[in-house]
Amino acid sequence: MEKKNIDWENLGFGYCETDYRFVSYFKDGAWDDGALITDSNVVISECAGVLQYAQTVFEGLKAYTTADGQIVIFRPDLNAARLADSARRLEIPVYPEDKFIEAVEKTVKANAAFVPPYGTGAALYIRPYIFGSNPVIGVKPADEYQFRVFCTPVGPYFKGGIKPLTIKISDFDRAAPHGTGHIKAGLNYAMSLHAIVTAHGEGYDENMYLDAATRTKVEETGGANFIFITKDGKVVTPKSDSILPSITRRSLMYVAEHCLGLPVEHREVYKEELKDFAECGLCGTAAVISPVGKVVDHGTEICFPSGMEEMGPITKKLYTTLVDIQQGRAEAPKGWIRVIE
Ligand SMILES: Cc1ncc(COP(=O)(O)O)c(C=O)c1O
Repeated sequence: MEKKNIDWENLGFGYCETDYRFVSYFKDGAWDDGALITDSNVVISECAGVLQYAQTVFEGLKAYTTADGQIVIFRPDLNAARLADSARRLEIPVYPEDKFIEAVEKTVKANAAFVPPYGTGAALYIRPYIFGSNPVIGVKPADEYQFRVFCTPVGPYFKGGIKPLTIKISDFDRAAPHGTGHIKAGLNYAMSLHAIVTAHGEGYDENMYLDAATRTKVEETGGANFIFITKDGKVVTPKSDSILPSITRRSLMYVAEHCLGLPVEHREVYKEELKDFAECGLCGTAAVISPVGKVVDHGTEICFPSGMEEMGPITKKLYTTLVDIQQGRAEAPKGWIRVIE
């Protein structure tokens, strides 16, 4: 298969239309078989449930070319399960998890020419999503839905080297107790836009959201979970019902414990503890780990000893180990890597 003529080394994180996408329709209480199509446009009623009441959920994962030239995807079963959880919370019919994996595999295979070659740092970002498509004017769930998967080649998250971020403790809340913070619904991101534009306008890279009820505990950013390293080398990650269960974070916790022999704690993390940590990072599919050098709490700077020049040493070990697994340079735990045949 011949690759597309794309400047892989200089790709950003943007949308680049590929040749095929997968679509399945839900009508009369059932999903159809679905198919790959070439038309990238979606035509729906002006009154579609998704347009009026934001009834939509989505996922994000990546396909890579490994050192030995295979195209692989990383733990798609967890994305399938998380999309199902998200769907249930928004009264969207669940797309079967095995069919989800099939659809992702078909879409990647059909667009193999867009999967960046090994060594470019780029990947194929895959976006599965479901939305209510029939007219809905009274507030209620739609009766008809589309499940779709498209993909787009994306460049390495950090161009020109990894640089620690400066983040602010936000005065906005991301998720209410018993709300929708634990699912991947478009509505969580719509309402985060004002907060992130505000933070960027003030010169910060990201927001640290606290728990909405007490504003004393660390939750996450708009698009990544936190990991912290204590001065005695423990890996700590915040626990809360309103945090999205990051697949990268869960994988890093496993790697920390089982590959690197580090103690791991998944527990509530208080804002007051921040000053005691040695390292901090944000984890998610986009960058795997972005190091955080500084958190600013209303003018008070909390600077991690790892500094503003590079990733902390333990964060770096975690990052390298997981990226090596994803790119086929290290043996993966059973079931983590699916080869696209
Ligand atoms: C709010 C939020 N938290 C965390 C993550 C990281 O999750 P994952 O590691 O599954 O990409 C994402 C991105 O998907 C996100 O949007």
